[in-house]
Amino acid sequence: MKRGMAVSIALAIALLAPVVLSQDIKSIVENVNATGQLEVVHWWTAGGEKEGINEALNYFSRIYPKVRVISGPIAGGAGTNLKQVVKTRVVAGNAPESFQCHAGYEMYPYYEGDLLYNCDDVWSYMGLESVTPDMIEEICKIDGHYYCVPIGIHRTNVVFYNKGLFEAYGVEEPSSNMTLEEFFDFAAELQEKLPEGVRALGLGDRNNWEATHIFETLMLAENPRTYEKFINGKVTAKELVPALEAFQEYLGYVAPDHRARTWDEECGMIMQGKVAMLIHGDWAKGYFTANGWEYGKDFGAFVVPGTEGWFGASTDAFVRPKSSVNHENAIRWQATYVTLDAQKVFNPAKGSISPYTHVPTTIYDEYSREAAEDLYSRDIKIYPSITHGSGSPEQVLSQLNVIIGDFAQNPQNVQGTANSIINAIKYVEHPVQWDII
Ligand code: GAL
Repeated sequence: MKRGMAVSIALAIALLAPVVLSQDIKSIVENVNATGQLEVVHWWTAGGEKEGINEALNYFSRIYPKVRVISGPIAGGAGTNLKQVVKTRVVAGNAPESFQCHAGYEMYPYYEGDLLYNCDDVWSYMGLESVTPDMIEEICKIDGHYYCVPIGIHRTNVVFYNKGLFEAYGVEEPSSNMTLEEFFDFAAELQEKLPEGVRALGLGDRNNWEATHIFETLMLAENPRTYEKFINGKVTAKELVPALEAFQEYLGYVAPDHRARTWDEECGMIMQGKVAMLIHGDWAKGYFTANGWEYGKDFGAFVVPGTEGWFGASTDAFVRPKSSVNHENAIRWQATYVTLDAQKVFNPAKGSISPYTHVPTTIYDEYSREAAEDLYSRDIKIYPSITHGSGSPEQVLSQLNVIIGDFAQNPQNVQGTANSIINAIKYVEHPVQWDII
């Protein structure tokens, strides 16, 4: 992420710094007799998520057996509840050693309060730059420095579906080989064949963001330029209309009580055969496999029609706040979960893809292997998710979640909703100007 750069003495110091830094970090990381605590605050409590974080923390404990590891889960997908709790702690000077934070704009409030250490040391010592896709690298930087270290990447533009349902009702399985319009036609035909109480499409937006997730994906599907203008703070109400109309159409096939469920409960509806298809991120795959489903046998997945060639990225990362008790353990934590062995155990359990291209794709099932090949491919364009903290400033996301959450409840007023979105975001500063196309 680039902001107006000033050439200054600071730059000269920064150029000298790595030599000293890498010596320090070497002795910190190599000290396997380290003691003290490592409190890691995260939101990974659902199926797949908790297996993933447990793998990463257990791996850390095997390397540093004398460190007291405290796992601090704060339930609420996508960091819904974590953000507030952590902010209070960090500002109060009582921060955990490390906490989960999406790479990108989500880091800004802490950065602006000078509450985070920069992580250039871990990036440089662990040689991450040479193995990280450029766009992911950019997302992790503010003003030319890294402020987080990614642990896993999720693809956000995916349709998941229950294979058995299609077989049971004699409908051919869907694929990306259609336009968004054809996808909705397909959903209409499917809905006709499904019995009462079974829905063609899913949504579980108890925490709002699940609705924003679908909205942003449809916005990209409708027009990547609109998406780019949105994240640059330059979109107009008129340009938002097609995405809202598409979401309105999507909602037409969703159960009316969608707000009663969270994302993982909605994945449960897919498993129970009450919902056929769901636009979601591939932590859903982690949920399905953690609950005993197999890709290709029980569930299928394909890229959301209209978004082929694009990879929506939710970049899971951890940061190092300044007011923790044991900063060295936070450095050890980051330097450990990026290793090949830790990445190999974390990502398959979580359903995510390693941010690091040297991690062999053979560690994944067929679904994640293809997703990983896409992420690392130069032919695929990566776009930063708005919903998952990267693409837009927090003030935009929090207001968007409310507006889209209301729209999902009452999807009549497309023009009014487009206007509300513009009114909510037009005065928000957008320091990052993305070039995703
Ligand atoms: C995303 C995150 C995923 C998953 C999901 C639901 O923001 O990237 O790892 O945790 O939220 O909680």
